[in-house]
Amino acid sequence: MPGRIPLARPSWTDEMRQAAIETLDSRRWVKGPQGRAFAQEFAEYCGAQYASPCNSGSGALIAALRLLGIEQGDEVIVPSFTFIATATSVSMTGATPVFAEVENDFWCLDVEDVRKRITSKTKAVIGVHLFGQCYNPDLVTLCQERDIALIEDAAQAHGASVEIEGELRMAGALGTVSCFSFFPSKNVTVGGEGGMITSSHEAIGARIKSIVDHGRDGTLESQEVGTNLRMSEVFAAIGRKQLVHLDAWLEKRRSHATTFTQVVDANSNLKSPAVRPDSNHAWHQFCIRTDSAERLVEHMNDLHIDARLIYPTPCHMHPVYANHPQANETFSVTEALCRQLVSIPVHHSLTNEESARIVKAIETYF
Ligand SMILES: Cc1ncc(COP(=O)(O)O)c(C=O)c1O
Repeated sequence: MPGRIPLARPSWTDEMRQAAIETLDSRRWVKGPQGRAFAQEFAEYCGAQYASPCNSGSGALIAALRLLGIEQGDEVIVPSFTFIATATSVSMTGATPVFAEVENDFWCLDVEDVRKRITSKTKAVIGVHLFGQCYNPDLVTLCQERDIALIEDAAQAHGASVEIEGELRMAGALGTVSCFSFFPSKNVTVGGEGGMITSSHEAIGARIKSIVDHGRDGTLESQEVGTNLRMSEVFAAIGRKQLVHLDAWLEKRRSHATTFTQVVDANSNLKSPAVRPDSNHAWHQFCIRTDSAERLVEHMNDLHIDARLIYPTPCHMHPVYANHPQANETFSVTEALCRQLVSIPVHHSLTNEESARIVKAIETYF
């Protein structure tokens, strides 16, 4: 019986173990040199000016909304096809998430639909680089034109990039404020929960550290309402060791994705994910589109390969939004994707033998 191939297998090496132990031995477990260095190295990697590690991707989103002063009475446009935290982070601030449709080919926010949903109450848009694919650069232009903040939900997109006006820009430098997650399935992990906020705006940069630390600016006095959203030093030390491998890991994800794309395209029952022109996909997920999604999941699982419908419920249809004004609105692309997308393993830790088993499984699906 072959071993099960999981959807994620985060790296855990001797150098990471050593970094964790050294940090524990130092007894400097919070607010120390590891967090400061991780912030600097992560900002440099993204081409952002400021960064602050925090406790999770969800914490990063809430901090970003607070940094922008979003509150009750404000509207924030979000895709309905994403992980639910994109929307619920808005609700946590008391503001209203306004759901928008996604692109049929690339699955990120549909910029024309966003344009239609802007009102005088719209304070921000949260664009998601879904599955590691950057959102449409026209979203950046639209938000600039309309003077609306753009929060980048880059939870799934460490290392993704897209060209804007001829310049390649990394995820983390494509919004007013950007948010990453280090949840164990992500492209970079920290040995637990974690997140990162980045920005290149001076006014945001001035508060990016205090927003995760009770609104304190290095003194014992709070300048604004905040809470403890900090990252532990141990996690920061592990994250630093992981970050140096990110480019090599992305190469592996891209190589698997290229192989799987070829096999999927040779199977007339299945459709491979499209890659946006002038962009570098970070392949957090590889999703196959098919009308027989549940059958594909069963087929893969029978062969001991983890696979699942990625987001079976559109965000606006989650019970938490039963009383939302858009609860009964039809989002035809989103609803189709929720029925049709099956995520299969594409992570950097896949062995050649595992990749070959996945290829075989796709070839034998009918
Ligand atoms: C698109 C997106 N946004 C936000 C989050 C929240 O991140 P975390 O789980 O670290 O809170 C995730 C995590 O899965 C995500 O995929």
